[in-house]
Amino acid sequence: MRRALCPGSFDPVTNGHLDIIGRAADLYDQVVVAVFVNQSKSSMFSVEERHQMLVDETARWPNVRIDTFHGLVVDYCRAHDIPVIVKGLRAVSDFDYELQMAQMNRGLAGVDTLFMPTNPEYSFLASSLVKEIAKWGGDVSSLVPPDVLTRLKGRAGTPD
Ligand code: PNS
Repeated sequence: MRRALCPGSFDPVTNGHLDIIGRAADLYDQVVVAVFVNQSKSSMFSVEERHQMLVDETARWPNVRIDTFHGLVVDYCRAHDIPVIVKGLRAVSDFDYELQMAQMNRGLAGVDTLFMPTNPEYSFLASSLVKEIAKWGGDVSSLVPPDVLTRLKGRAGTPD
């Protein structure tokens, strides 16, 4: 069985993430989407909320499974026998850091990374921007699924 991992913070999941997850689900027998806890980033949603949003929004793909993990991506891959990470690349600005992580992950554990060009419609899209715009009452309805939008509106005006 060909398996791949889509790791991320998913705070919250956006249409850009879902585009990559859906395309990965077309390429692999099973795709695991894992919410990684990143202590250097302050989050709007708890890990449980992020997990639930992903469960809801990926229900259309039967070969996608959602998980959470606190630790290194390569340790997750090793523990679950996953040989490849799938990452979306929005622009050249993503490339330097993503290349560095991909090379590090391959060096650490032989885990490869497949880079997928983001749909140009979402090349500017980032969860951090969505949160900032939503906090100030801006319209992000074209950037996130309706249920995520509802949750974002529920947090509007909530300080970090
Ligand atoms: O959605 P994000 O915040 O860009 O996701 C980043 C993520 C979760 C992929 C990254 O922070 C990560 O890899 N975290 C796990 C810790 C780890 O493995 N670090 C070493 C990377 S070489």
